Amino acid sequence: MSTIFPGYFISFEGIDGAGKSTHIDAFGKLLQDRYPDQEVIMTREPGGTLLGEQLRNLLLESPMDLETEALLMFAARREHLAQVIEPALKAGKIVISDRFTDASFAYQGGGRGLSLTKLNELEFWVQGREKGALLQPNLTILFDLPGSIAEARRSKVRAPDKFEKMDLEFFERVRQEYLRRAKENPKRFHLVDATQTQESIWNGLKDLRINL
Ligand code: TMP
Repeated sequence: MSTIFPGYFISFEGIDGAGKSTHIDAFGKLLQDRYPDQEVIMTREPGGTLLGEQLRNLLLESPMDLETEALLMFAARREHLAQVIEPALKAGKIVISDRFTDASFAYQGGGRGLSLTKLNELEFWVQGREKGALLQPNLTILFDLPGSIAEARRSKVRAPDKFEKMDLEFFERVRQEYLRRAKENPKRFHLVDATQTQESIWNGLKDLRINL
């Protein structure tokens, strides 16, 4: 159960090329089969709403000031929460989001250098609820692997977007910030060693115990 709402909120995270997208749909189907009475909603960030998808196009293609980028990420998130995530959690659904706020800490914070103070303020602004509660995923599945391996995997696929064009040092900083967040929130994070084969990763995901 969500700490605030009756539903259950899961986010998938990792540096570009870590392989989360290979498993996220199958994981959604697995949960839907396991919990047939609870609807599973699949969504993503930046995006998940009409406005959010428009902001996504801008964010992934247009160069912009770092603070503009962070503000637009959180603006898209606010809309996503208001239109999709919160109504679903209130209705007791399971929400699986391909990325959420940890990505802003990792990419805009770790990668591009935005201060943690500003990110914490944005997080509280957008996700803060009554009596100081903060809406967070119940579970965050972090696909972790060295930047060099992710880079080699990325070069085999589609044309890179703005973030995917960044260098190895950038992705190492992004990875370290993800790991710092995971260390800070050990109960919420489940770490996946993404250097494993797809089959071992999937077997691990299948065995993951979720306490709805
Ligand atoms: P995706 O390719 O996994 O859908 O993610 C889109 C890109 O957006 C990815 O490179 C990470 C980046 N991103 C941020 O920089 N900050 C954020 O808050 C989010 C949600 C994504």
